[in-house]
Amino acid sequence: MTAAAAFDGTTSGPHTETASAAPSIPKVSSAHAPVGIFDSGLGGLSVLRAVRAQLPGESIVYVADSLYAPYGERDDDFIADRTLAIGQWLVEQGAKVLVVACNTATAQSIALVRERLPIPLIGVEPGVKPAALQSKTRVAGVLATQVTLRSARFQDLLQRYAADCRFLCQPGHGLVQAVERCDVGSAELRALLQNYLQPMLDAGADTLVLGCTHYPFLDAAIRDIVGDRLTLIDTSVAIARQLERVLDQQGLRTASGTGPALAPRFFSTSDGTHLQQLAETLLDLAAPVERVHIPSRRTAAPDPQAV
Ligand code: DGL
Repeated sequence: MTAAAAFDGTTSGPHTETASAAPSIPKVSSAHAPVGIFDSGLGGLSVLRAVRAQLPGESIVYVADSLYAPYGERDDDFIADRTLAIGQWLVEQGAKVLVVACNTATAQSIALVRERLPIPLIGVEPGVKPAALQSKTRVAGVLATQVTLRSARFQDLLQRYAADCRFLCQPGHGLVQAVERCDVGSAELRALLQNYLQPMLDAGADTLVLGCTHYPFLDAAIRDIVGDRLTLIDTSVAIARQLERVLDQQGLRTASGTGPALAPRFFSTSDGTHLQQLAETLLDLAAPVERVHIPSRRTAAPDPQAV
């Protein structure tokens, strides 16, 4: 069972921020403009899937920064630099709102990006609040990147909601890389997951927070290991609802009806093969992927980590 996160969009829910205008980028306010969605790579497709289901009339521009994924292995300045550059690029493409569909980028850079972009932002945070609300054993696991787990934002979330619930926080080393390769079920991946999940089961956890947008694509592999002993908390539906509220509040919702969802425009900073493959196999979405070069201060020089 996968619990729809009970987010209310105020505290631990998807974070919404309206930015002050940056001098160099004109403000966009047309309801016909696209929704920009960005992730370090393919994980944001789990958010895109929920947005298309909730808001089928909205056109979407999706950017995967796969050349520089995983962000969870990067330093804070690098993550902020890329998030800002991609946000600015999406504004230049006419995006009316930006969904930072990456817990790691939200944790490290939402405050900075909020100051610089002239459009509303929606960030994502691990579903600690809904986990605390629904755990019966009062023990819950959190799988997220190391950067997310050590961030001040996440520590603050824990402090607010973990008073009477024990959270076992496990960095998901290797999981983002697996999804980026379109591996959602290999023996190696299952062994990694087993290592991460068994201690949670042994400690009596009944709830698992998927604190990275890549992880919902591992739900079948996770389910094979934990059966129905853990309720999975995936915040993508709550994020889509929050996006809907923001569009309504700002008068930016498209007037298009509720017919079949429009095909998104996909961009990748890498060759896009895996983005296309994952969109096709897991989202049933056959759309071309355009390769895009989005320069930023930290990537001006060739990146030794980039593949
Ligand atoms: N999807 C990103 C997140 O939600 C993955 C981060 C990474 O690239 O390590 O955190």
